[in-house]
Parts: sequence; C-alpha cells; structure tokens
Amino acid sequence: MRAGIAAIVGITWVLATGGVAGQPSWRWPHLPAGIAAPTVPIDNGMNAAKVALGRRLFYDRALSRDGSMACADCHQQSHGFSDGQPTHVGVTGDMGVRNVPGLTNLAWRSGFTWTEAGITSLEAQAMVPMTGTKPVEMGMAGYEAQLTQRLNADPCYRLLFLRAFPKAPDGANYVRVTQALGAFQRTMISFGSPHDRGMLTPLAQKGAAQFAAAGCATCHSGPDLTDGQVHYVGTAALGEADGSLYGGKPLPPGFEPPPEQFRTPSLRNVAMTGPWLHDGQSPSMDAAIRRHAAAQLAGVDMSALLAFLDSLTDPDFLTNKDLGPPPAGCPVNVG
Ligand code: HEC
Ligand code: HEC
Repeated sequence: MRAGIAAIVGITWVLATGGVAGQPSWRWPHLPAGIAAPTVPIDNGMNAAKVALGRRLFYDRALSRDGSMACADCHQQSHGFSDGQPTHVGVTGDMGVRNVPGLTNLAWRSGFTWTEAGITSLEAQAMVPMTGTKPVEMGMAGYEAQLTQRLNADPCYRLLFLRAFPKAPDGANYVRVTQALGAFQRTMISFGSPHDRGMLTPLAQKGAAQFAAAGCATCHSGPDLTDGQVHYVGTAALGEADGSLYGGKPLPPGFEPPPEQFRTPSLRNVAMTGPWLHDGQSPSMDAAIRRHAAAQLAGVDMSALLAFLDSLTDPDFLTNKDLGPPPAGCPVNVG
C-alpha cells in the first residue's frame, strides 16, 4: 500500500515538473516566500537539457538569415536583456519600431510585447523576431527551411535536440526551437534586488512609500511591478498620435499607425533597460515617468522615487553565468 502511494506520488511529481524519464526532473531555484512556482505550458515541461538547448539557441546567430543576429544581440544580459538603444535595426536594415524590452521573470507573465497583440506564450512570441516582417528582425521569413536544415546538419545540435526532446528523433523544427527558447527564458528569474532583500537605503525607502502613495502601483503592481495590462497613458504623443511618426522616425509604407495603449512594463531591473518607453524616446527614467504619470507627481521627491527604481536592479541576475553565453564548443561528446 505504502509503495503504491509512493509510486503514484512519484508519477505525479514527474508529470507536474514535466520531467522526462531517464533525466533529472526540473527544479526551480529557491523562490521567495509567497511566490509560487510558475505554471508552464502543458506541452512544454521543463527539463535541464531543454533549458541548456534554449540557452545555446538564444545566443546563436544561426537563428538569423545571414548569421549576423542572435536573440542575445538585442536582449543583452548586462542591460537586463535589453540593449541600451532606442530601437534595434534588423538584419535587412529595417529600422526597429519598438524599444527592446528587458526580459525578467517572464515565466509568471501571460501577455507579451508592448501592445495588445494577442501573444500569450513565450513559445508564440519567439516566432516573431525569427520570422516577423513588420519589421524584419532576424529575417527568416521566406527562408524558414534553412534554419531547421542548419540546425539538423550540426551534429552537436542533433544530439542536444535529442536529449531535450527524447521522444522526437527527427531533431530540430520550429516548434521545438521555440519550446527550448521558452524553457530557457523561464529561467531568467530575478528576486535578488535590494528591494527583494529588504535592503533599501533611507532615500529608496522614502521612494517606495511615494511610489505607493502616488498610485504608481495601480499599474506597476505585484511582485514584478506590472499588472500585465495595456493602458492609455498618453505616450503616443511624440508625433505618433497622428500616425506620422513611429519610434521617432517616419512611418514606413504599409505600417499601421501605432495603437495608443501600451502594456505596463515590469520595473524589475528598469534602471538597466533604458532608453525607456515603447519607442525608446525617453532618455531617462525621470523623463519616462513625467511623460506618462506627470499628474501623479505633485509633492513627490523625484530623487527618492528614482532611488527606489534603482533598488529594483538585481546585480546577480545581470551577471548570472547560467544566463550568459554558453561555453564554447559542444557540451556533449559528438564522437
Ligand atoms: C532586432 C532585435 C531583436 C531580436 C533579434 C530579438 N528581439 Fe525580442 N524583442 C525585441 C523588441 C523590439 C520587442 C518588443 C516588440 C513589441 O512590443 O512589439 C521584443 C520582445 C520580446 C519579448 C516580449 C517581452 C515582454 O516583456 O513582453 C520576448 C520574450 C522576446 N522578445 C524574446 C526574444 C527571443 C527569444 C528572440 C530570439 C528568437 C528575440 N527576442 C530576438 C527585439 C528583438
Ligand atoms: C495607468 C497605469 C500606470 C500608472 C499609474 C503608472 N504607470 Fe508607469 N508605465 C505604464 C505604462 C503603460 C508604461 C509604458 C508606456 C509606454 O511605453 O508608452 C509605463 C512605463 C513606466 C516606466 C518605463 C519603463 C520602461 O521599461 O521603459 C517607468 C520607469 C514607470 N512607468 C514608472 C512609473 C512611476 C514611478 C509611476 C508613478 C509616478 C507610474 N509609472 C505610474 C503604466 C502606468
């Protein structure tokens, strides 16, 4: 009887963690009290081999048409997985139209990108930079087959795909590429900022109180300081409202004028992700705040507010080697 229960518990454990027979089940790192382990898509359970594969893919420029651009070229760890630029040019020279958002604690999020584009999973999101055309970023549209051919022709990737997806002997395809990228991105976890550790300076403490009192937390709410929703905050005003400008530049032919509602960004590591807002047109956090929440700033000490936002930076996250480029060479013996 006891053994029976243990066996059942064992089976549910493997299912719950998305474990793969013969491979160690995935364990989330230690999470703060009150933070539940994230839910992962039912068809994309976590395992260590998949995370390692996703990390390799995230840093691999082979994911772009001409081998010149990786996810990590726009999403740089030292910038909280943003890039320090207003927008980023794609492989064919298309100007970027939106600011590269930082990537932090995405595993707990269900709405992605700056606008309400209906993208609700990391797996769906990963197709956009690879094969999107408005704008072209990595440029695989029309060249889709080349990516899977490239990956399947590489003996190292063949083995890594087999380890990550043991039931799929045919190796790389777009579904598995996006699943591995999703698994890796779910490990971009940041709970080590001074704010998390309760180590705020007196000025930052004052800023935290003002953040709450000024109503910032109506939208920047919860553990990641976002409600995940889009709001009209009047930020399409810098020449965008009439559709003539997009990301500060003339709207290219065929592009829809931008919507006027934008998603509340998480403020984790926000001090590292500038320039700010959806168009990257706010050169400081101060400017970004005044541009969308000016009415709430009466009586607010901006230097305190900024000190609080600085306290959301997690230095360990920005330097965590597990999130950085994978070691050179193939991690498995390809014989
Ligand atoms: C050319 C630069 C560029 C490249 C390359 C790029 N991204 Fe992005 N990424 C962006 C921009 C810009 C956005 C915001 C798009 C929008 O809101 O319309 C974004 C948004 C995202 C988001 C949503 C984040 C959020 O908070 O909503 C994720 C996740 C993401 N990218 C992952 C990836 C992955 C995975 C790759 C590689 C397959 C990748 N990106 C390649 C520029 C890039
Ligand atoms: C009504 C909802 C709402 C309120 C209230 C609000 N924000 Fe925001 N915040 C947003 C949205 C939406 C954006 C993105 C707007 C855009 O990109 O155009 C944003 C962007 C930001 C950014 C830039 C983040 C980035 O990655 O570019 C900062 C910093 C910020 N808010 C701080 C604050 C502070 C401080 C307050 C209080 C004084 C505040 N916000 C009040 C919704 C809100």
